[in-house]
Amino acid sequence: MGIIIKNANQIASPIGNAKRCGHEMSEIKVIEDAAIIIDDGIIKKIDKCENLDFSQYDGYEIIDASGKTVLPGFVDSHTHFIFGGYRDDEFNMRLMGATYMEIMKAGGGIKSTVEATRTASFDELYEAGFKRLNSMLSFGVTTVEGKSGYGLDIETELKQLDIMTELDKNHPVDIVKTYMAAHDIPKEFEGRPTDYIDFIIDEGLQTAEGKAEFCDIFTEDGVFSIEESKKLLTAAREHGFKLKMHADEIVQFGGSELAAEMKATSADHLLKASNEGIKELIESGTVLTLLPSTAFSLQEPYANARYMIDEGAAVALGSDFNPGSCHTNSISLMIALATIYMKMSIEETITALTLNGAAAIDKAESIGSIEEGKIGDLIIIDAPGYKHLSYTIAVNLVEKVIKAGKIVYDKELAFDINY
Ligand code: NIG
Ligand code: FE
Repeated sequence: MGIIIKNANQIASPIGNAKRCGHEMSEIKVIEDAAIIIDDGIIKKIDKCENLDFSQYDGYEIIDASGKTVLPGFVDSHTHFIFGGYRDDEFNMRLMGATYMEIMKAGGGIKSTVEATRTASFDELYEAGFKRLNSMLSFGVTTVEGKSGYGLDIETELKQLDIMTELDKNHPVDIVKTYMAAHDIPKEFEGRPTDYIDFIIDEGLQTAEGKAEFCDIFTEDGVFSIEESKKLLTAAREHGFKLKMHADEIVQFGGSELAAEMKATSADHLLKASNEGIKELIESGTVLTLLPSTAFSLQEPYANARYMIDEGAAVALGSDFNPGSCHTNSISLMIALATIYMKMSIEETITALTLNGAAAIDKAESIGSIEEGKIGDLIIIDAPGYKHLSYTIAVNLVEKVIKAGKIVYDKELAFDINY
């Protein structure tokens, strides 16, 4: 059975089934007074209402989107949303002057979340994950990438992946999983990062094979070196993983250049990436995933999105939602940061959050734009045009979310109007 969204003031979407590079990112196709017909979860027709004969779709559920705008569901292609405990003290210490790396070296940071995640039960982490997915959905996210990386041992890394598998079955938001055992050096391997990398290669990768699509690593001064990263990523590829990297986040370290050499699907953060590294990433076809809310939360300068796009990059935007460096999954905040501080146009920002986000998880063929034959993942925003997404600063305009042709979130129903 199907669903018809009709009378939309605008349907707005990036174009096509592949990542958009450079100036293509600003091309948003807009259809006014438009309708979308979805059949069995797949987009069947998109056109102006006047060109469609609705009488042939008897029995279809109708959504009247008068005065509203329909966009593709957002794809948040970088999160760490399965974690135990919180780091609110650390966050407030940072606001008083301590740096992220100082806290990490003093045993705080990722290590404290690892302790809390190891001791938390499957059910506790599942429940917390479910609530976080609800929140993402309310911001219009229909697909999310989630990483392990708060176990740093075989068992807990798998626990995180298994929880995401269960959540994917039971929650409307689709989850793409990434194995990130190389997120930090666990206490069992303190001072021996190379030994830990060898342990992941010899024992970890095979356990995660088939449970995660991607392998990621925190390549950073004081965490994993370029050599260690290359060794792990090479082995991961042999085990069938596609590659991602946390690259050049805190200092310029050669992570971008390595991601390009490895032809990673995406290179993420890139706050300190060199111009040369950026050019190599563009050349290698890697998606450059920027995480403005992390820069905001760490009070660091933003990645140079303008240079990247002007040079021809496919830029994606992700939340990096995690318990430490960025404890927010707000898409509205991200849009505000990208448009106001990173000099991205609203059209580029939308492409980065939809089709290029999909490309960052290798799903651009099936999601991320409103095209016939693609999965019917859509949002309806309570605004007459897509430009309101930046104009209405940091406010969540999402009114309804449609996942594979089904309404899975309706803001109206969140209020008891009969109180
Ligand atoms: O992407 N940089 C490393 N990983 C995360 C932070 C994780 C944490 O602080 O718990 C990031 O910023
Ligand atoms: Fe991250």
